[in-house]
Amino acid sequence: MQVHLLHEDPITHGSPLVVLPVFSDREELSETARRADSALGGAFSAARTAGDFRGKEDDGLLFYLPDDRISGKNVSDDGVRRVLFLGAGDHAGADAERLRGVAARAVRRAEALSLTDLAFEIPDGLSITPEGAAQAVAEGSILAAWDFREFLSPVAAPARSGSEGGENSSGVREPISGEARRPLVESFGVWAPGRASDAVQSGLRTGSAFAEGENLARVLQSRPGNVATPTHLAGVALELADEYGFESLILGPEELRQERMWALLSVAAGSDEEPRLIVLEHHGGAAGTPPLALVGKGLTFDTGGISIKPAAGMEEMKYDMSGGAAVLGAMKAVGMLSLPINVVAVIPSSENHISGSATRPGDVIRTRSGRTVEVINTDAEGRLILADALSWVIDRHDPAAVVDCATLTGACVIALGNQAAALLGNDDTLIEELRAAGDQAGERCWPLPLWKAYRKQLESQVADLKNVGGRGAGTITAAWFLSEFVGKARWAHLDIAGTAYGEPRAPYQRKGAFGFPTRLLLEWLRARSA
Ligand code: BES
Ligand code: MN
Ligand code: ZN
Repeated sequence: MQVHLLHEDPITHGSPLVVLPVFSDREELSETARRADSALGGAFSAARTAGDFRGKEDDGLLFYLPDDRISGKNVSDDGVRRVLFLGAGDHAGADAERLRGVAARAVRRAEALSLTDLAFEIPDGLSITPEGAAQAVAEGSILAAWDFREFLSPVAAPARSGSEGGENSSGVREPISGEARRPLVESFGVWAPGRASDAVQSGLRTGSAFAEGENLARVLQSRPGNVATPTHLAGVALELADEYGFESLILGPEELRQERMWALLSVAAGSDEEPRLIVLEHHGGAAGTPPLALVGKGLTFDTGGISIKPAAGMEEMKYDMSGGAAVLGAMKAVGMLSLPINVVAVIPSSENHISGSATRPGDVIRTRSGRTVEVINTDAEGRLILADALSWVIDRHDPAAVVDCATLTGACVIALGNQAAALLGNDDTLIEELRAAGDQAGERCWPLPLWKAYRKQLESQVADLKNVGGRGAGTITAAWFLSEFVGKARWAHLDIAGTAYGEPRAPYQRKGAFGFPTRLLLEWLRARSA
């Protein structure tokens, strides 16, 4: 979807749908809303006076403007001009997340009306800057318009022959344009009278890039395990490199052996799909300045391995590459905005499958760092592939800071539910930066302690450490495991098992993939580049 700034009043311009947010605690309407109301003969004021519209967050009143053709004004394509007054809640609480939600509800109302085009007024006099408000509106609208339809056949069309879209090795049709159901909203005009247009433009540009990045993450998350393989993710990374001029490096099994990445190889050992280490570098900062490193778990399907998971809900484990997806999504936005910063992105990618060559519980493996690990449970595979990726990027790139994100532990969902990612690391400043970036993005994360006392749980009789630390504090012991592979680097870890996908908890999400924490990472990078 495209977001663009309107230079002409959408009421007279003739948009098929003009959305005007109204606060619950503000008597006075915007100038545009006043004019819409008077064109409606005061119908909206009447509804307010009657108490039928109070401006609460789920309030909305839709009106139809009288046909204006005779007066010579523009009319929309379908000749119908709709005005939607949308409740925006209390004025004081109208932060970026509220605006994302209001813009998202505007898009969803357009979608319900099968309209592909709408105009939206950004309310004036907010406590956040016009630039920040524009960013939030662009994010909320673009995220809300997105839907995953790659594998839906067009409705009411005859079954397609094999001529469109190739087939992959599994016989699943490669994406054809999914055009099933209601059309998705394509165009979102922003009306912000009285605000400097360069500030608004700049906010729209940032918000559009952040949301397009997050939508890429959602697409990759949504693609099933038989399509989004490690090889597929590597291909997507190479396309990004092509489009945005990133340096790229893809390691396959042979190179991984040369690099001694035995932990990643041991997770991939039970699978017919080859693993990849995917690396992208963006050189937007001064040459020689140490980069910021983003590392994302790219486990494209997690059966649990020999320690197999129960059948119920196992299909969700296609989302076990959500961390890698978010890192690729963030890189897309980094490229779109050419952020003035050096970034290196690393995604260890593998399946965790079962076969005669799969790693067994009790096996001892060597990691790239030289440390040995007793594999107590083959389902604790994420920390193994991340261990090798972390030590690799730290040795090769000497980053100023490393942030990894991973759907790492079910325990994280028990601790924090679906409202926040768990945040752990070895540097308090970095942890606070990420926490603040999460608040800014509406993708919250919250610290758990990484006390030395927890380290005992990983002690092994036969190796340097075990890959699981028992029932208690599973998110913390997983992070402790990772910390063993970062040396002295400044490092933080986001456990996104409860927040990367699921039931929607914001108006700009749908059931399934959220793209979390793409925008959190981007807010952090942006703050670091300022
Ligand atoms: N990918 C899972 C974690 C996960 C669980 C993500 C639920 C999203 C939802 C991870 O690889 C895993 O299986 N972790 C185990 C670790 C355990 C064996 C120590 C877990 O959390 O059960
Ligand atoms: Mn697992
Ligand atoms: Zn996993």
